[in-house]
Amino acid sequence: MIFTVAIDGPAAAGKGTISRAVAARFGFAHLDTGLLYRAVGAKGGDPVVAALSLCAEDLAREDLRSLAAGQAASRVAVIPQVRAALVDFQRRFARAEGGAVLDGRDIGTVICPEAEVKLYVTASAEVRAHRRWLEVGGDAAQVLAEVIERDARDMGRVEAPLKPAADAVVIDTSVLSIDAAIAAAVAVIERARA
Ligand code: DC
Repeated sequence: MIFTVAIDGPAAAGKGTISRAVAARFGFAHLDTGLLYRAVGAKGGDPVVAALSLCAEDLAREDLRSLAAGQAASRVAVIPQVRAALVDFQRRFARAEGGAVLDGRDIGTVICPEAEVKLYVTASAEVRAHRRWLEVGGDAAQVLAEVIERDARDMGRVEAPLKPAADAVVIDTSVLSIDAAIAAAVAVIERARA
């Protein structure tokens, strides 16, 4: 059975939580594609060389979840050759036997336009910044500024900008509990599988 759930959206909208929950619920494999870009940014040196030589060890680094790693990822993600180097791996993962959930920015639009389910998980910049701040602490205004800066870069780039696919179902987590957001995603997937 080949079945892809593409989950796109901006930073800290809840994509990761929803992706892990639906993958566990349906027994699908899960790929957090942001981790690929974070690993490229963290590797340093020429980002294209880093993307072409990415290995499991790079993805296991402990510093990939930091705000700095997110900003570095967003910066290398504008480079078309970096994106191109990561396409095949993501496509193979998406269409592998057994079902897959991929979360990122361009899964429903570029990596897997044929995905059986496309979700666009979003929330206001203020809500997302507050969530990030609860995780990382520091200066709240600075965290909000970084969220807005990363949104602008991810949505404004020429290559594979962040935007909902035309046929994506939008889930706005600004006012939804985690459980309600997961239930909404599960309902969309169940409808598509029926
Ligand atoms: O989802 P995340 O915060 O881990 O993503 C980090 C950055 O990586 C994000 O700001 C933009 C980039 N990214 C991307 O361009 N395409 C993806 N499919 C996933 C992430």
